[in-house]
Amino acid sequence: MSNPTEAPVSPWTPESWRGRPALQQPEYPDGAALANVLEELRQLPPLVTSWEILRLREQLADAVQGKAFVLQGGDCAERLVDCRAGRVTNTVKVLVQMSLVLVVGAQRPVIRIGRFAGQYAKPRSADVETRDGVSLPSYRGDIINRPEFTEEARQPDPQLLLRGYERAALTLNFIRALVKGGFADLHHPEYFDLDWVEHSPLADEYHRMAETVSDALRFMENVLGVRAGESDRIDFFTSHEALHLGYESAQTRRVPRRPGYYNLTTHFPWAGLRTNDPEGAHIEFLRGIENPVGVKVGAGCTREKVARWMDALNPERAPGRLTFIHRFGARRIAAELPKLIETAKAEGGNVLWICDPMHGNTTTTASGVKTRNFDDIRSEVEQAFDIHQAAGQQLGGAHIELTGENVTECVGGARGQSENDLARKYESEVDPRLNYEQSLELAFVIARKMKNGK
Ligand code: PEP
Ligand code: CO
Repeated sequence: MSNPTEAPVSPWTPESWRGRPALQQPEYPDGAALANVLEELRQLPPLVTSWEILRLREQLADAVQGKAFVLQGGDCAERLVDCRAGRVTNTVKVLVQMSLVLVVGAQRPVIRIGRFAGQYAKPRSADVETRDGVSLPSYRGDIINRPEFTEEARQPDPQLLLRGYERAALTLNFIRALVKGGFADLHHPEYFDLDWVEHSPLADEYHRMAETVSDALRFMENVLGVRAGESDRIDFFTSHEALHLGYESAQTRRVPRRPGYYNLTTHFPWAGLRTNDPEGAHIEFLRGIENPVGVKVGAGCTREKVARWMDALNPERAPGRLTFIHRFGARRIAAELPKLIETAKAEGGNVLWICDPMHGNTTTTASGVKTRNFDDIRSEVEQAFDIHQAAGQQLGGAHIELTGENVTECVGGARGQSENDLARKYESEVDPRLNYEQSLELAFVIARKMKNGK
């Protein structure tokens, strides 16, 4: 808890982060051009509303108490070229189908949060990339620069902030229309592509679960007269890493008749592992907004660090405000997570816990391709359930990098995708994602775990 003898924290404004060290920010060659773009962003209408943000915060508070489960997923990095009807539909489809498996299997409401409509900026381990003796600035996501390895492409371009904002608006507009309109058709069991199930050692159990999902949908439609998921209010929330602080703060404002400031680029911003320093600019920015916020946490968090995050981001310890998204890797979670849970409890608790089983499990093949093994992802999620349960609480959600497309980026899964398959359809410029089948399979794994504890 806060030490009352500490100096009072300085006043917060949407721009107060500028007084702290800000990591992972691009260096724009023309400061005036950046300032013009940020001013334009300040004038544009928001992407989300304060009442949606507050509704999510309430739902996350339910998840803290184990009454709901968060499914958070989408691309590692959205690309401007992927703002296409088919792509967006497929992402929404896989998330809807996964959430149906979870609702029916786990008998708990699912809070669907897309990693979309703004997931355009990426933290990088190195500021420069060197190829054949030539060094250029690293690619930092489509809102900042371009992936081609040329001097021109890698120059940060402030106009891309506007392009990203506009594509985020187009993406969200289409998702809202899908959710409101005929999209409920996708809930039909025949839209589930379950061919992969035959290849799973758990085929019988998975078939039974799929049958239960179908029965539940039929029951809702035929007996209750409602189509699953059909609703005239948004049941998808958006999230992205709050990395580019100029972009985030330009859309952070007051709203009529409500106290406080809202970041209106997204419902649920989070601080990434590389920018989560409690004294740094990113935590300073997140501190003053009313949105629910996440912090990615990894190995080696000291008690002091945990206390500083909680004091800065959730001094009241209000449930739903602060989420720790833990990402240790399948081999480290058992040694690290129990300590972290105990520390958070000792500091006053009321944290929502989400497991990101992706970012601690990235490996590189002998030929230099970034991948992840489905077995590691599965193992980390399963261990997370057990560790939270042993600590007398529940895992509140899963954060997955996935796509509705049939890509070959992660190895393993029921079909046994191998390293040799990776070259076939590898699209990600950054981290490898689960494809459609692997994502659904993971939903079955999670539902099974929630239902049977195994
Ligand atoms: C990410 O979520 O894409 C990411 C970079 O994660 P982390 O900050 O946990 O490394
Ligand atoms: Co990633």
